[in-house]
Amino acid sequence: MKEVLVVGGAGYIGSHMVKMLSKSGFDVTVFDNLSTGYKSLVKYGKLVVGDLADRPLLEKLFSEHNFQSVIDFAAFSLVGESVSEPAKYYRNNVANTLNLLDVMVQYKVMHLVFSSTAATYGNPVYTPIDEQHQQVPINPYGASKLMVERLLQDYAKAYGLNSVALRYFNACGADPELELGEMHDPETHLIPLVLQAASGRLSSICIFGQDYPTQDGTCIRDYIHVQDLCSAHQLAMAAMLSSTLTGAECFNLGNGAGFTVQQVINVSKDIVGKDGYTINVQQADRREGDPAELVANSRKIEEILHWKPLYSDIETIIQHAWEWEKRLVALH
Ligand code: UFG
Repeated sequence: MKEVLVVGGAGYIGSHMVKMLSKSGFDVTVFDNLSTGYKSLVKYGKLVVGDLADRPLLEKLFSEHNFQSVIDFAAFSLVGESVSEPAKYYRNNVANTLNLLDVMVQYKVMHLVFSSTAATYGNPVYTPIDEQHQQVPINPYGASKLMVERLLQDYAKAYGLNSVALRYFNACGADPELELGEMHDPETHLIPLVLQAASGRLSSICIFGQDYPTQDGTCIRDYIHVQDLCSAHQLAMAAMLSSTLTGAECFNLGNGAGFTVQQVINVSKDIVGKDGYTINVQQADRREGDPAELVANSRKIEEILHWKPLYSDIETIIQHAWEWEKRLVALH
């Protein structure tokens, strides 16, 4: 059975990944410091609680296992916080990740799937954004992820470390079997907040800015289901294991379809309305650093890895997230 290490496997996306890999027959070990992850989300695989800053612990872990590949989700990812606390972001997302890369090379584990982000592109100069688009991040979060992408290119050349950096657009949705879903504290993402406003955990949802140059004045984003993100990781890992992909590769991950904040709220209203719920909406000022439109061109991963999203329609994405929100409310 192939062994895989999932760093950050107790988080939102990582926990879905662990489930998918376990169901596919991989022997999964989760390494997570539980700073933003939850033990309760590790429903598959073995959990080792630890921090990437702890190099001796990483060495012990690698010496005790026979990992063939690593998938790394461990990072801080709040754009606003990265502006006010850049040291936290560079230390964890760059310096601690360097420990992981070095231990991988030391133990000759030469395949890494790395969570990168659309935030590495900065303000789009054209749309949809392909992988050739300039990468000029406008916040420390995006910069920290871009630094690791650069490291990965050099580690491929010098040490033969193969990697695939996946640049996520807006991750959302939940496990269709409802064992897992999004849990952030604080929650900052649009879809879970809209649904919390429906369930009553929030009194209302604020639309940040209605004067953007878009069809209804609200920002456009490319929402991608967490299961589709995970299937891309699995394809990337398989391509490295079979030597179809070598060196340092990168792919965008989005649906290629943009929805405005207002459209997301409208679809959500229809979905929660069927269960008798309503959503209070308020207007607010623009949030600093939000580009008007972020939409992915994901043709490269479709062509090279034959990735196909299963849940690309926004209704299904929001329906799954709503089922999860109802479950969370029922549990509390
Ligand atoms: N929004 C609101 N009200 C809210 C929350 C969000 O109107 O209460 C709007 C935002 O202004 C934005 C859209 O909803 O226009 C989506 O916002 P999210 O916070 O859900 O997601 P972002 O697009 O800001 O962030 C995502 C990832 C980041 C990544 C970024 C790339 O979550 O990790 O894309 O720019 F950095």
